[in-house]
Amino acid sequence: MSVTVLIGAQWGDEGKGKVSCYLSQGARITARYSGGHNAGHTVIISGKKFKLHLIPSGVFYPETLAVLGNGMVIDPEALFEEIRALQESGYPCENIRISPFAHLIFPFHREIDVLMEKARGKNAIGTTRKGIGPAYADKAERTGIRVCDLLDKDRFNEKLRLNLEIKKERFSGLNGVLDIQLYTNFSERYVEKLIPYISDTSKIIQDAIRLDLPIICEGAQGMMLDLDFGTYPFVTSSAVTAGAVAVGLGIPPREVKKVIGIAKAYATRVGAGNFPTEEKDGVGVFLREHGNEYGTTTGRPRRCGWSDGLILKYGKKINGYSGLIITKLDVLTGLEEIKFCEAYQYKGGIFKEFPYDPAVFQEAVPVYRSFKGWDKEISHIRQRKDLPRACQEYLEFIEDYTETPIDLISVGEDRDQVIQS
Ligand code: GDP
Ligand code: IMO
Ligand code: MG
Repeated sequence: MSVTVLIGAQWGDEGKGKVSCYLSQGARITARYSGGHNAGHTVIISGKKFKLHLIPSGVFYPETLAVLGNGMVIDPEALFEEIRALQESGYPCENIRISPFAHLIFPFHREIDVLMEKARGKNAIGTTRKGIGPAYADKAERTGIRVCDLLDKDRFNEKLRLNLEIKKERFSGLNGVLDIQLYTNFSERYVEKLIPYISDTSKIIQDAIRLDLPIICEGAQGMMLDLDFGTYPFVTSSAVTAGAVAVGLGIPPREVKKVIGIAKAYATRVGAGNFPTEEKDGVGVFLREHGNEYGTTTGRPRRCGWSDGLILKYGKKINGYSGLIITKLDVLTGLEEIKFCEAYQYKGGIFKEFPYDPAVFQEAVPVYRSFKGWDKEISHIRQRKDLPRACQEYLEFIEDYTETPIDLISVGEDRDQVIQS
C-alpha cells in the first residue's frame, strides 16, 4: 500500500496535521500537493506544539522526506520563517524537498487578496489574506512565477516585470507595492536559501512508489473548500480532493491506493459561507471552548456546529474514502445530547444527498438524529471497546450511515492520543 491520501472531510482544521504526523512514522515521504500557508496544521509531540503551514509533518522524522509539491503556492518569507522555527526546536529540515514547478507568492499577492476582499464587501469570502487566490489566479493566467524561475536571474526579472505591468493596469490603487525596484533583491534573497531544497519531487515520489515505500499525502483545507466541489465561491482557490494528488505531485492517478477522510466528531468552519448545522450559542460556544476552536493560521474563532452526514457522504463519493478518521471525539465529553445531521429539509422536500443547487444548501434546515452523550473523560483511552457505550453507538452510527469503517479515532491533541480501531 504505497500512496495514502489524507483528505479533510469538512471545512478544514479536522486535525490533518496531527493525523499525518502520527501516520508518517515510518513513511518514506510525506507530501503536500495543494494550497499554501493558508493551511495551519497543528502537531503536538510529547507536549511540544508546532504549527505548520507549508511543510508537511513528515519533517519531524529524519528518515522521511517532507515534499512541497508542484500544486502548492509558496511564500518564501513564510517558508523560511517556518524552517527557522523548526530548526530552533532542533529539527534541521534537511529532509525538505521543494518542487521547481510550485508557484511563488509575493507580497503584492497578499495586498491584492486584501483589496479583493474589501471590494467584495458583504460578499467577502473571509480569506486568510495570505495571497493564495491571487497567486493561483496568476498560475491559471500563465503569468505566475515559479520556484525554478529563481534559478535564472534574467528570467526571473523578466517574468516579474511582465507580471507587475499587468497588475499595474488592473490595480491602480496598488502602485505602492507594484514597483519592480522593491523586488530587485528578491531572487538574490531567496535563491541561495532555496536551492538546497529544490528537487525533482515528482521523480522522488515515483522512485519511492516503484520501491513500494509508504507515502502519505497530507491534504490541506477540506473537501467543502474545494474549488470545484466545495461551497463555491466560499472556497479556497485550489483543488483539495483526492483527484488533485496526481496533478499536484506529478504521479499517475492509479498509484493512489488509499484515501482516508478525516472528520471532526462535530463540524467547524472559518470564514464566510453557509453552514447549515452551525450552532451559534449554547452548544456552539461549548464546542469552541472545549475544542479550542480558534484558527491556527489567523486566530479567528471558528464557527462550530453538529456533524453533517450529507457532507461526509458527498466527500466519500468524490474522493472514494476507504476509511474515516474521527478526531476530537473527546471534545464531545460532557454534552447530554449529541446530534448528527442525516438529511436537509428544504421547502417541504427532504434531501438525503448533498444538493447541487446552492439555493437549497443556503436555506437547508438540518434533520437531526439524536444520540445520548457521555460524561467520562476519554482522552486516555487507547482501545475502542473501552469507550463509553454511548460514544461507541455514535461511532457505529457514523460507520453505518457513511458505509465506511472508522480506521482511527483521535481523543486528544497529542500525536499519540489515538485509538486504532
Ligand atoms: P488541521 O488544519 O486539519 O491540521 O487542523 P488544525 O491543526 O488547524 O486544528 C485542529 C486543532 O485540534 C489543533 O489545535 C489540534 O491540536 C487539535 N486536535 C487535533 N486532534 C484533536 C483531538 O482528537 N482532540 C483534541 N482535543 N484536539 C485535537
Ligand atoms: P487547513 O489546512 C480552514 C478558508 C478560509 C476562507 C476560504 C478561502 O488548516 O485545514 P483562502 O485564504 O484559501 O483564499 O481562504 O478558505 N480556509 C481554511 N479554513 N482551514 C484551512 O486550512 C483553510 N484554508 C483556507 O478561512 O474561508
Ligand atoms: Mg488548520
